[in-house]
Amino acid sequence: MANVTVIGAQWGDEGKGKIVDWLASRADAVVRFQGGHNAGHTLVVGEQVYKLSLLPSGIVTGTLSIIGNGVVLDPWHLKSEVEKLRGQGVEINADNFAIADNCPLILPVHRELDGLREAAAGAGKIGTTGRGIGPAYEDKVGRRAIRVCDLAHLDALEPQLDRLCAHHDALRAGFGQPKIDRDSLLKELAKIAPFVLQFAQPTWRRLNKVKKAGARILFEGAQGVLLDVDHGTYPFVTSSNTVSGTAASGSGLGPSATGFVLGIVKAYTTRVGSGPFPTELDDDTGQRLGERGHEFGTVTGRKRRCGWFDAVLTRQSCAISGVTGIALTKLDVLDGFEKVKICTGYRLNGKILDYFPSHAADQANVEPIYEEMDGWSGTTAGARSWADLPAQAIKYIQRVQELIETPVALVSTSPEREDTILVRDPFAD
Ligand code: GDP
Ligand code: IMO
Ligand code: MG
Repeated sequence: MANVTVIGAQWGDEGKGKIVDWLASRADAVVRFQGGHNAGHTLVVGEQVYKLSLLPSGIVTGTLSIIGNGVVLDPWHLKSEVEKLRGQGVEINADNFAIADNCPLILPVHRELDGLREAAAGAGKIGTTGRGIGPAYEDKVGRRAIRVCDLAHLDALEPQLDRLCAHHDALRAGFGQPKIDRDSLLKELAKIAPFVLQFAQPTWRRLNKVKKAGARILFEGAQGVLLDVDHGTYPFVTSSNTVSGTAASGSGLGPSATGFVLGIVKAYTTRVGSGPFPTELDDDTGQRLGERGHEFGTVTGRKRRCGWFDAVLTRQSCAISGVTGIALTKLDVLDGFEKVKICTGYRLNGKILDYFPSHAADQANVEPIYEEMDGWSGTTAGARSWADLPAQAIKYIQRVQELIETPVALVSTSPEREDTILVRDPFAD
């Protein structure tokens, strides 16, 4: 089984895009299986920087790229992202790119509802990306979504839109908003339909066919396990399952297809949006991590919150997602720190915990217990082999893998594709 499933093992932005891009040239297909254009995956290849939100990162290497059924798809965003990438010289056509025809659509009404809810929540807001992800998934499980395949049957769309509008108009009335202009929505959908449909197909068939022919499939997760709607810091989560198992259901391949589960782990911790964050640093050290790591959101430009590495949370994510090995990223950001800290447990109401509790109040109140290590004076930036790493940096990596009970398969030492150390080949397993 030579497939690889890449997932984020923290709160997103761990460097999934870079690692997927690095692995993509050795894969036959790259598949997005959940989330939508709330993701922001950055790829750096020489002088070129590619920022992808919806398209699988494999598109940059020309690898067959598939948007699976588990994704929620904004058709207008799709068009603009395809055009942006084509403008950067990336080839995108019906041979190397396909969209599952059973993907639910994100409509303008979803984005509006996302914004209205966040505004109404005031200080209690989730801090979403504002892209309509939550409302679109609600409509999917509410069985009233418009899907990609519906765009090929515009004549049958009116009653479907009526059902959707009846639901949303009631919600909108509560926010003092006007009813949806159904006719203009139908016109807009009819206009965008040909663009989407040129790529649409039952992608589960194509994937099963390439799988049978022995292809290596690379699944590209978005967000991270701590944003998973079941296992994350609920309610401060996204609206999809971000764990590795979703690769199967979100693509139409069985669970054995997930193969090697590669958890992407940042050498420290960041979070964008609201919610608990035990090791968050509101001081100069947090500031320094943010500056050295350029921690600004790709999608919203928001400043990411920063803190020390949390081994408790990462161990939990690795266990929940069945991570086979990790890619440790952004190690270079810790270069030059005299001391580095790792959270190894929590204190809560006088008790010691070795896991993150489920209740939001407990999550907010845990106090991290730290272990301190010497930093390293040499640099790891740009290192491409184990031998290039300072001895103390190696000690840090070893301590991380010991505490999270999961081995390191890759180490990333800069945004650049090739600045990557291979320890254990995920495709060889
Ligand atoms: P993703 O959402 O998991 O794909 O991660 P993002 O692309 O949102 O954020 C990761 C950021 O860190 C991007 O700007 C990457 O170019 C950058 N990056 C990835 N790996 C490394 C690394 O090893 N070192 C440094 N300094 N930056 C990295
Ligand atoms: P990538 O794939 C980091 C966060 C938002 C918010 C919460 C819910 O780049 O790692 P949503 O718009 O999904 O309803 O927002 O989830 N969030 C991310 N944080 N990286 C991401 O994606 C994220 N996608 C969503 O900030 O806290
Ligand atoms: Mg990101």
